[in-house]
Amino acid sequence: MTKQIKVCSVEDLPPGTVTGAGPYAVGNIDGEYFAVTRRCRHLRADLAGGSIENGRLVCPWHQAAYDVQSGHMVRGPQQIFAKIPGLGTVFTTLTKLWPLGRGRVTFSGDDIVVE
Ligand code: FES
Repeated sequence: MTKQIKVCSVEDLPPGTVTGAGPYAVGNIDGEYFAVTRRCRHLRADLAGGSIENGRLVCPWHQAAYDVQSGHMVRGPQQIFAKIPGLGTVFTTLTKLWPLGRGRVTFSGDDIVVE
């Protein structure tokens, strides 16, 4: 039997928001819900504290951006890390091999559930 984790009610996760539920960062991109494992592949920041920008999940620490469907990092760490030659490419390549895990989002009444 698949483990189910209750996230919150649908009204508590409006478009453009992210929250945490167990091992997942769960968010809403224009009405499409997603669940990905919550540790950034860069320095393990909690992606549940991230933001949604241009349809991507953005890490709260150094603004790496993730495609939540594939779990791939599509923009490497920013700030000082963006000045290190090749670092962004290393992480975007790494997450093609080792993407964020993805959970399946379902609903139970008005509640969001991740499996
Ligand atoms: S910890 Fe996520 S980009 Fe640095």
